[in-house]
Amino acid sequence: MAVAAADVQGEKRQSLNVTPGPILLLGAPGVGKGTQAKELVAKWGIPQISTGDLLRYHRDHGTALGIQAKQLMDQGKLVSDDVVNQMVAARLKQPDTQVGYILDGYPRTLPQAAWLDQHIGADPKALPVIAVSIQVSYNQLLRRITGRRTCAACGTIYNIYLQPPRVDEKCDLDGTPLVRRSDDTEEVFRERMRTYESQTAPVVEHYRALGRFEEVNGEQPVDAVAAAVIAAVARLRS
Ligand code: AP5
Repeated sequence: MAVAAADVQGEKRQSLNVTPGPILLLGAPGVGKGTQAKELVAKWGIPQISTGDLLRYHRDHGTALGIQAKQLMDQGKLVSDDVVNQMVAARLKQPDTQVGYILDGYPRTLPQAAWLDQHIGADPKALPVIAVSIQVSYNQLLRRITGRRTCAACGTIYNIYLQPPRVDEKCDLDGTPLVRRSDDTEEVFRERMRTYESQTAPVVEHYRALGRFEEVNGEQPVDAVAAAVIAAVARLRS
């Protein structure tokens, strides 16, 4: 007899014996938020909500929002809080977020954090937010960003220096040619880092001050970082 998808997801969650609830993955451009979010998705079967991916979807489909966002993204600047908050609000209404979700790249400003805290606080059934901040040094981030390639079909993330595909510039899983993000140049990376320091670092301090916060060393192999993130989530939910 076929096992229902919901049962499989339920078993995955039970394997860690925690209800994940809302999890924030925080950190500078290239620390591995997207890579680690996919590990958590595999572990708990909860959705990854990446505001960067949502904005890139709009940009690639030429929506009004996407056209507006493209310029800002290509300059390493942030899209307006209102636009991003509305996008997240719409996504959080989907039923797959009920037992938890991973926010990757959001919140990125103090007004976004205030919006999220209020939104979650207004739901009496919601678990409080927990936050895991991933730390990686500047030079390593530069290498990760300039070497990143992504499969346009399945979204698997590679790095030509650190995690290369088996065949040059092709996805290991489906053979699709890999693509480079337009904001993954050294020049735009420097601006993204300036934006991170001025607008997003205060968000990390906000969640540190609230408690339910842990830091993880991101300069280890992906599996070791994943184990540290999962252990942090388990402690924060215990
Ligand atoms: P977004 O897409 O969120 O970009 P980001 O935060 O800069 O983060 P990245 O996606 O670049 O990196 P990551 O931490 O996910 O690293 P990854 O796992 O890919 O945002 C893009 C833009 O959208 C923003 O600049 C802004 O304009 C806009 N935007 C998005 N959210 C917004 C918001 N909330 N408000 C306003 N504007 C918003 O890994 C990177 C590389 O490292 C990969 O090649 C990977 O293979 C490699 N790697 C990962 N882990 C390891 C490891 N442990 N060892 C070796 N290599 C590793």
